Amino acid sequence: MILSGKRILLVIGGGIAAYKSLDLIRRLRERGATVRCVMTAAAQHFVTQLAVGALSADHVFTDLFDRQDEQDVGHIRLAREADLIVVAPATADLMAKLANGLAGDLASAVLLATDKPVLMAPAMNPKMWAHPATRRNHATLRRDGVGFVGPMQGEMAESGEAGEGRMAEPLEIVAAVEALLDDRPKPLAGRKIIVTSGPTHEPIDPVRYIANRSSGKQGHAIAAALAKLGADVRLVSGPVSIPDPAGVTTIHVERAEEMRDAVEGLLPADAAVFVAAVADWRTAGSANEKIKKVAGEGPPALQMVENPDILAGVGHHGSRPRLVVGFAAETRDLLKNARAKLDKKGADLIVANDVSHASGIGPAGVMGGDRNRVRIVSRTGVEDWPEMSKDEVAERLAALVAERLKAIDV
Ligand code: CTP
Repeated sequence: MILSGKRILLVIGGGIAAYKSLDLIRRLRERGATVRCVMTAAAQHFVTQLAVGALSADHVFTDLFDRQDEQDVGHIRLAREADLIVVAPATADLMAKLANGLAGDLASAVLLATDKPVLMAPAMNPKMWAHPATRRNHATLRRDGVGFVGPMQGEMAESGEAGEGRMAEPLEIVAAVEALLDDRPKPLAGRKIIVTSGPTHEPIDPVRYIANRSSGKQGHAIAAALAKLGADVRLVSGPVSIPDPAGVTTIHVERAEEMRDAVEGLLPADAAVFVAAVADWRTAGSANEKIKKVAGEGPPALQMVENPDILAGVGHHGSRPRLVVGFAAETRDLLKNARAKLDKKGADLIVANDVSHASGIGPAGVMGGDRNRVRIVSRTGVEDWPEMSKDEVAERLAALVAERLKAIDV
């Protein structure tokens, strides 16, 4: 438990997203952290001191000039007696204050006085986030070493406006906190690793496309697990409905050809893991106009052409990463087919999963579900892993990648 015994100082800024900070307190505490809270004056318009105090089980600090508080703890001690300061929601105002060294209230004084890492979870109207002043402050704060999680795309609670500015969800903030406080060894530090994930969408016309059932869960979990071990992960993701993993640079694509271009543009790399369920075929030239039904003509004949094999392209590339990992979804002759793919695709490892059984697809199956049972096929043998969650498969695979890269080095 990374957060066990860690002391978090949570600065709650004044924004409607402050209601999510209440849940954040709970999530941090259930992972073993102690949470002490500072609220700005504006924050108290959105959530009450009573709620924050009850959830944190501690005194709530609000006033720089409170005689009792300054005598008992004081803003300097508040700033130092923490392992990490989290600002959530981080308003445009709080960002501007810290970027410019202002310290006229307790929250900003604490942020200026601290010698501990600071993580901000911005939340504001998309226009405020896009304003040149906020852009400047964000850049300054990043240069000064402040960490950020979000903001995310989404609809604003107050105005219904959509855009970038929604605060990261409590669990995304927790993941960012854990990443910052994780002092376990980082065996993949300094390694650049490419991961592909999700399906591809191959257009038929402007409104229709060919797709598959991949959810991106396994690929995204692998990207996150590699990042946790310190790798510089570049995730190339097809269209999925799950969030970008924390600590990972994510590039969004739609079609197989776009995925291939993005992946090859990222070379050279130390390793590449191909988890995406790339469509094997696309239509030969998608129509520019929506294909209409014409009475008496029957359905259109879709002519298909083969998509590039991205894994094989990288596996046989001049700047081939030293470790190339592919996946194989098979319905029969699992091991035979997986072994054949090692050579055909130029891979060092194939993670093979059996999608033959009836539960292979859907919420309980491999495609779309949360669990997976895989075998790791290499030129020297096969490792059978028991059924486990996709997160556990990801962690074990990340550890295996670290081990393999280390073995290649020596
Ligand atoms: N893959 C890829 N580009 C493609 C097709 C597949 O990069 N155009 C990668 C997948 O990400 C996966 C591996 O190749 O890592 C195996 O994909 P799979 O669909 O199992 O194999 P295919 O090559 O499509 O072979 P087949 O459908 O004949 O089993």
